[in-house]
Amino acid sequence: MPTTKIARAPTPEELKARGPLPRHVAIIMDGNGRWAAKRGVPRLWGHRAGRRAVREAIQACLDLGVEVLTLYTFSRENWERPRREVQGLMRFLVRTLDEEIDNLDQSRVRLGLIGRPQELDPTVRQVVTRAMKRLDHHRRLTLLLALSYSGRAELVDAVKGLVHEARTKSGVRVDESALEAHLYTAGFPDPDLLIRTSGEMRLSNFLLWQVAYTEFWVTDLLWPDFRRRHFFQAVADFQGRDRRFGRVD
Ligand code: IPE
Ligand code: IPE
Ligand code: MG
Repeated sequence: MPTTKIARAPTPEELKARGPLPRHVAIIMDGNGRWAAKRGVPRLWGHRAGRRAVREAIQACLDLGVEVLTLYTFSRENWERPRREVQGLMRFLVRTLDEEIDNLDQSRVRLGLIGRPQELDPTVRQVVTRAMKRLDHHRRLTLLLALSYSGRAELVDAVKGLVHEARTKSGVRVDESALEAHLYTAGFPDPDLLIRTSGEMRLSNFLLWQVAYTEFWVTDLLWPDFRRRHFFQAVADFQGRDRRFGRVD
């Protein structure tokens, strides 16, 4: 059942004292369009309103010392949306990155990209690359933006990379760690916690390989309404889970 009611969200200090924290949190930021529809305004307004929620999620990670935050920002399937919405989203992304880069720098946030950058508009690619270069020396939090991302495409790309390696090098073993080394997320831990807003109980082609043992937390809240306290509530629920990884206690 989607988690909805939050009586009193725990503070970061309480969470830190209570138990292990997730190292990597991934978020499917969904429901911007419905947020806008509820208000009778264009869908793009919903995307714009989601910017505050992104800020709050980043701040929550900084408060808790989460190492990696992955945000599902634009899927490969999202290219099928009306041209106007796609263009609006890309313009909004460029503007947001431009306006937020100083804050990210001050907060010592590094930026990474997962997805197929070659499918992005050159302007978008350039802005993202520039931002990544500028923030590359930071290690407090890594913010991974999933852009033109598809979990299946990622697996195809990983297999291609592995096949190429096997053809050009000798003694290449095909096993889980070899495949993992070719994923977009190579070098990062798998997500411990996956948050999805707007109540949908599906992965929508997100991080298919990496979420094998991730804990899911789904809320009915629409993404623009998501706040730090909701993030803390998700982490509190995560701490109450019994992660067995297929074993017995
Ligand atoms: C999520 O909100 C943002 C993106 C997919 C880019 P949606 O635009 O999917 O909002 P809904 O699901 O239509 O409400
Ligand atoms: C997933 O949301 C993609 C992002 C949040 C960027 P969608 O709105 O595209 O997913 P579906 O269509 O509900 O599965
Ligand atoms: Mg959606």
